[in-house]
Amino acid sequence: LRQANVGQQTTLAGWVQRTRRMGGMTFVDIRDRYGITQLVLNQDINASLFEAANKLGREYVIQVTGEVAERSNKNPNMETGDIEILVSDLKTLNESKTPPFTIEDNTDGGDDIRMKYRYLDLRRNSVRANLELRHAMAFETRRYLDNMNFLEVETPVLIGSTPEGARDFVVPSRMSPGQFYALPQSPQLFKQLLMVSGFDRYFQIVKCFRDEDLRADRQPEFTQIDCEMSFVDQEDVLQIFEGMVKHLFKFVKNIDFTEAFPRMTWADGMKYYGSDKPDIRFDMKFVELKEAVSGRDFVVFDSAAYVGGICAPGCASYTRKQMDELTDFVKRPQIGAKGMVYIRCEADGTFKSSVDKFYSQEDLKNIASLCNANPGDLILMLSGDMRKTQKALCELRLEMGSRLGLRDKNVFAPLWIIDFPLFEYDEETDRYYAMHHPFTSPLLEDIHLLDTDKGAVRSNAYDMVVNGVELGGGSIRIHDSAIQQEMFKHLGFTPEKAEEQFGFLMSAFQYGAPPHGGLAFGLDRFVSLFAGLDSIRDCIAFPKNNSGRDVMIDAPSFIDQTQLDELNLKIDLKPQAPKGV
Ligand code: AMO
Repeated sequence: LRQANVGQQTTLAGWVQRTRRMGGMTFVDIRDRYGITQLVLNQDINASLFEAANKLGREYVIQVTGEVAERSNKNPNMETGDIEILVSDLKTLNESKTPPFTIEDNTDGGDDIRMKYRYLDLRRNSVRANLELRHAMAFETRRYLDNMNFLEVETPVLIGSTPEGARDFVVPSRMSPGQFYALPQSPQLFKQLLMVSGFDRYFQIVKCFRDEDLRADRQPEFTQIDCEMSFVDQEDVLQIFEGMVKHLFKFVKNIDFTEAFPRMTWADGMKYYGSDKPDIRFDMKFVELKEAVSGRDFVVFDSAAYVGGICAPGCASYTRKQMDELTDFVKRPQIGAKGMVYIRCEADGTFKSSVDKFYSQEDLKNIASLCNANPGDLILMLSGDMRKTQKALCELRLEMGSRLGLRDKNVFAPLWIIDFPLFEYDEETDRYYAMHHPFTSPLLEDIHLLDTDKGAVRSNAYDMVVNGVELGGGSIRIHDSAIQQEMFKHLGFTPEKAEEQFGFLMSAFQYGAPPHGGLAFGLDRFVSLFAGLDSIRDCIAFPKNNSGRDVMIDAPSFIDQTQLDELNLKIDLKPQAPKGV
């Protein structure tokens, strides 16, 4: 209700945000899905209603009728601040216990308590707004894809377990004793089968399940905008879905991206940003310095496979304390650098470094010029094993970007990462895994390397990255059963194992599989990005905590012996290692 409604009779139903008694007047703020409105009850006009209002507690459910009136004392901080309702009828529909935290934008409730009482947390404007945004984005996505002739098809949730990818969640079968379903990590195989069935444009907004370690942008159950198309090549897929992302940017954020999104090869992502999801809101690219720093008897650099640096503009004046903070930052176990070398480019054109002992002013000048550093800039260098050092330098770059205010949440820098490697080597198990999944097609020009140099084979896979977040990814698939079999062989599957796991797909491919490809976006990540959230939990109505628990319903939980018996299951709990070991 706004100024334009003044004079109208109205009925509102909602929750009591708060009550204030001021002499013979009581003010009640009523909250519903649409906002907060001030109610006024005047003792002189209706004493019994006034009494009733004074008995209302926080979160009581009430229904009021009255006239919309202009306020004499307007509140410019409230959307409804110009008006109030002169109450002529008040019903208490239900009482409420005092809530365990205040239901305000800036609540006093910590994370745990808010999650336990999530249904109350969801009454807060900020949380509700995130769900409204999620609804709008899902709705608009459906509309966009429907306009493009995509058909939404549901795929099953109880499927079979596959060993590739993340760990599966499994569900015991009562009717097939000892056997298990798995919950889908994605509808990947089903959407490919739909292509074989002739549904040339498929999508689904779908729940996916992965039993992996959780982070701010990972939940064990999350939602994908999953898509697949037939008779397409990589360019077609990138064009269609770049269009969809641009449409959502325009629709939700009113941001026009008139130019094509930049494309970067995976190799360049690693070389310049140490990441397959670079945050390109700011520059600060890596500079490889191995050659420039070698041969000066500085053993750390001489013995390192890789030496890389970044140039932080205007940071030469960093204090000792700030430098120590940065060194501590890179030495954190999750970042893993052993130390950090710096060069201050002083205003007078001289250089001061933590390794002055080994490098002359001329050497330092040379490094600074390779880094395009100006007087006043600070060069930070890390060294060691190539991939590990690039990863650490990536974290340091992001940290510097944050410190310099270069990671504004209202600035969006999307790009495609293309030409991913087909395989990824795992040292622990000493074998190659599919970097995307086993159905991704290799780049034709690299197929000859399959037997000789697996690590160098590139694939027809792509990711959409925005502000350092992997928003989506996909690939052109293998549609030829012979090549698919070849791929399984390279991934170390015996023909029997491949048949057991993926026989139905191989068989389907023998009945006229069209060339096809697709991708999936993470809806939760998409919404959090647009809402500027730090964790995807905040745009999920009932999320799990970092240990994968729903603390509100207290799941997972033990089940009754009768249920176990029905499922032919026996629990044999091994003693658990203490947490953190
Ligand atoms: P992928 O595994 O890259 O591809 O997943 C696609 C997108 O889903 C999102 N995502 C997640 N979001 C929240 N929590 C998680 N645990 C989580 N895991 C993934 C990310 C990611 O980019 N079937 C393929 C797609 C394809 O090839 O078409 C797939 O699932 O935003």
